[in-house]
Amino acid sequence: MERFEEYLKSNLPQVPSFHPVYELALSQMLLAGGKRFRPMLLLSIVDAYEPLLYEGALPVAMSIEMLHTYSLIHDDLPSMDNSPLRRGQPTLHVLYDETTAILAGDALNTDAFYILSKAPLRADIKIKLVELLARDGGGRGMVLGQALDCYFENKPLTLDQVKVLHSNKTAKLIAVSLQMGAVIVQLDKSIQDDLYSFGLDLGLLFQIQDDIIDETQSEEEAGKTTGNDTDKNSFVNLLGLDESLSQANILAKDLQRRFENFDKKLQTALTPLMDKYLHRHI
Ligand code: IPE
Ligand code: IPE
Ligand code: MG
Ligand code: MG
Ligand code: MG
Repeated sequence: MERFEEYLKSNLPQVPSFHPVYELALSQMLLAGGKRFRPMLLLSIVDAYEPLLYEGALPVAMSIEMLHTYSLIHDDLPSMDNSPLRRGQPTLHVLYDETTAILAGDALNTDAFYILSKAPLRADIKIKLVELLARDGGGRGMVLGQALDCYFENKPLTLDQVKVLHSNKTAKLIAVSLQMGAVIVQLDKSIQDDLYSFGLDLGLLFQIQDDIIDETQSEEEAGKTTGNDTDKNSFVNLLGLDESLSQANILAKDLQRRFENFDKKLQTALTPLMDKYLHRHI
């Protein structure tokens, strides 16, 4: 975690110009923190299997965090969730203006692939990583999820449709963080697939939890605008709070069972993250 934070601080997008805030705006949300869940998933796998590749994996982990941070900057815009607070700080469109926030998001999105392309890893592996991040972070994944999320505000969806929405919006990027870690250390395709499908359900759990946070936590506790999902197809709106909590528990138990079938090395690597994000439900 510390190594990642250090790497991130030393590799922020540097774009000096005569624009008064542009360069700062690109870095601000990255520096504001966040749980770093996705980079930690990737780096834990690399650390467990090929610690010598850790250095080369840092830019890849950062690329995922950049893409995720762009998605949050855009998610908070007035045309989407209209949220003034993120990671304990005013959102970029509040701090500056919408144009700056949109462009900072655009820059982080593309720059994610720039930094990934320059990682000190084998070229064929990097091409695979670009493919995977683009597949799940772009129009076939996170962006589709956001489109469904926003288009169907105040239009109730079925539980299956809500699952599709959240799988795209949140779960795919979490699943692909695990898969990308596995690609860097060249784990077998079948293990990659197991990790990916585990990650999809872990991501769904993560989003149920996020919807519960919106309902139950204050802005101070969450560090972001809460009570903001009234118009959304959130799990809490669909199922109610109690049922969302019990669905989270069921999913967590199932994930725990699947986790115990992973190779011991993998379990050891991922246990700290699972303790933090999975076990709180059981
Ligand atoms: C928030 O993601 C948006 C969702 C996909 C649920 P995180 O909860 O990972 O936000 P940070 O990175 O910790 O700020
Ligand atoms: C956003 O989901 C997920 C993204 C892809 C950015 P939410 O709108 O629920 O995220 P928060 O609650 O604002 O962090
Ligand atoms: Mg949203
Ligand atoms: Mg939001
Ligand atoms: Mg939310």
